[in-house]
Amino acid sequence: MSAVAGRIAGTVRPDILALAAYPVAHAEGCIKLDAMECPYELPEAVRDDLARTLRDTPLNRYPAADLSELQAAVKTAFGVPAGADVLFGNGSDELIHIAVQACCNPGDVVLSPWPSFVYFDMAARFDHARFVGVPLASDLSLDLPAMLAAIGEHQPKVVFLAVPNNPTGGAWSEADMAAIIAAAPGLVVVDEAYQPFTDRSWMPQVLAAPNVVVMRTVSKIGLAGLRFGYLAGHPGWIAELNKVRPPYNLDVLTQAALLTVLRHKSVLDEQAARLRADREPLAAALAALPGVRVFPSAANFVLARFSGKLDGNAVHLALKTRKILVRNFSNAHPLLADCLRISVGTPAENAALLSALQDILSA
Ligand SMILES: Cc1ncc(COP(=O)(O)O)c(C=O)c1O
Repeated sequence: MSAVAGRIAGTVRPDILALAAYPVAHAEGCIKLDAMECPYELPEAVRDDLARTLRDTPLNRYPAADLSELQAAVKTAFGVPAGADVLFGNGSDELIHIAVQACCNPGDVVLSPWPSFVYFDMAARFDHARFVGVPLASDLSLDLPAMLAAIGEHQPKVVFLAVPNNPTGGAWSEADMAAIIAAAPGLVVVDEAYQPFTDRSWMPQVLAAPNVVVMRTVSKIGLAGLRFGYLAGHPGWIAELNKVRPPYNLDVLTQAALLTVLRHKSVLDEQAARLRADREPLAAALAALPGVRVFPSAANFVLARFSGKLDGNAVHLALKTRKILVRNFSNAHPLLADCLRISVGTPAENAALLSALQDILSA
């Protein structure tokens, strides 16, 4: 072992040494349906507006302390109720850390239905909390009795509820969510990353219970490259969470770009509506393929199980060979055996995917 390797092995936490870094696939020249991005680029007029704004954004100073203009724009654009405050993060990934760091002593429990967004587990572990994933039912619906029992047993400081859920696409009922919120002794973070693709939101009632914040991101509505997420909730919660926010976490270019794009918010809404409209035809076409089961989705992706002639790993590989990227969950969790998560793309991308799958499954 080299001197560096020896020093690393003796210094870095064993659980970190055992991990692999978050996987991001190389996508050059591929049809990219693996990361729930919006496949549409911003229109020319918005990009011109961005170019003008960014040209005049000074880079020599740290970001200003006063974020009130952006806060007002975000509240208006995304329907944050009067009386709630917002906290901004470098993507909602950072906000997940902030919630855990603010609430959990080492060993405290972070809990979520499972499988769900993998970063809930990762962030909890990085931040020395203990992650408890409560298995979904075999049809990937929420197991409310199991959730309530686990909350009673583990008394979690933080519960993450992704609604709609990633990677399954399901949206938990309001009654189930209310029961979880009522039972949770600590903070419940309702993660609405995929809310733009549904009619429902917890946002209007974010102030109704004493222990809820709603987290959103702009990543799924056309701005994944910006790295911007926000938490909305009672000013008391936001003030505490703000204390662990890294200083200057939102750079000036992101702030300026977001303010500019929000002046064209209808463009983002139209793109989301288009993806939502294209979701059901894609799901139906996938479900019509031999040996394919599609789970109900309220998001901008669908989860499909391949249990015909080829299993999930084989289909994933065959698609990759054809330069079509989807996310393989076959080996991630027993409930996701042979499952691939497929983002809704442009109509041309969806057609290319379906034609490739027809080919692969009939070979
Ligand atoms: C449920 C959920 N929450 C949060 C995120 C992270 O979003 P962001 O890009 O804002 O970090 C994702 C990303 O896939 C997600 O699926």
